[in-house]
Amino acid sequence: MKVSLDYSIQLPRLRAAYRVIVQPGSLISLSDYLAAADLKGRAFVITDKNVDKYHGKKIAELLSSNDGHLIRVPSGESSKSWNQAGEIIEKLTAHNAERHDTIIAFGGGVIGDLGGFVASIYNRGLPLVHVPTTLLAMVDSSIGGKTGINHGGKNKSGTFYQPRLVISDPSLLKTLDQRTYTEGLGEVTKYAMLNESLLSELQNQADKLRCFSPSHIDVLSELIAKCVQQKIAVVENDPYEQQVAGRELLNYGHTLAHALEASTNYKELLHGEAVAIGMNYAAGLAYKLGIVDEKLVTLQRGLLEKLNLPTYFEGDVDLNRIMTEMAKDKKGRFRFILPQAVEQMIVKEVDRQEVEISLSNFLTTR
Ligand code: GLY
Repeated sequence: MKVSLDYSIQLPRLRAAYRVIVQPGSLISLSDYLAAADLKGRAFVITDKNVDKYHGKKIAELLSSNDGHLIRVPSGESSKSWNQAGEIIEKLTAHNAERHDTIIAFGGGVIGDLGGFVASIYNRGLPLVHVPTTLLAMVDSSIGGKTGINHGGKNKSGTFYQPRLVISDPSLLKTLDQRTYTEGLGEVTKYAMLNESLLSELQNQADKLRCFSPSHIDVLSELIAKCVQQKIAVVENDPYEQQVAGRELLNYGHTLAHALEASTNYKELLHGEAVAIGMNYAAGLAYKLGIVDEKLVTLQRGLLEKLNLPTYFEGDVDLNRIMTEMAKDKKGRFRFILPQAVEQMIVKEVDRQEVEISLSNFLTTR
């Protein structure tokens, strides 16, 4: 099938370069891609029970052709913990995993973050390969080298650790449940707000993209490839998120999203849903501060609704807890990525009182 993207990310300051493939059916050739990337050791595949249920046959083939071992963890955000990282390390130790062996993080964002974290610390670093199996992981978390567990807050303990290879096979998305597919569209919308041509494409193709359909896999693959290219451009420029208005802009919607996720103990919202709500709040805040036109707020909300994403939080949540979580995430300040227009985001610190009032209104809007 058509290759939507075969790109080699170049990160000269990190002395890293790696290939990213977006292509339906690419998983079949994973062993060849591993060999081409000079990854010839044993393969330790980290996955979760849910992914193993759907893709167990493919994983078994991969293990048999790469003298591999399977490490399965429970599904869900609660696996991003020290305990789970420790258990994986014990299994790697029991199998005498060595520096020339490879960790393959085969799953969604949780597996990528957790597997990447372990790969970065075990034996001072093992080669890491991402095989994302969710839309969210394909467009965002598998690219750019952020790893982490939720110790001290969402992704509070983690490393920057670049993979050696990323293989995105959009045909894997056919097994996703609708809610998990839809949350990926939350991150897709974030990239669309950062790129005008991607935004037009998403608006034009929303009907074909709202649900996974094998007959629209080429449209979906192109969309994934464009999000990945958008992310790569930002990461190549600012891999460690050090520049003003650099990689940090990819956190659009995330100030409230992380606080909502933590305040509901990671049980009520999927990450992409929280990001959708966070973007709607951020755009509304930008409008209140006179930074952006109301048209953009309406356009973004309309698009999120068209994709069946939530735009408000409908559960019960304590305002003070959210304020505390937001301040914790941003070293005591209320720092937001706010839109001025499509493709034009700024980083702004907003007064506590302003945030409290707007958030209190936002949380009571349904
Ligand atoms: N998910 C945002 C980043 O990778 O920087």
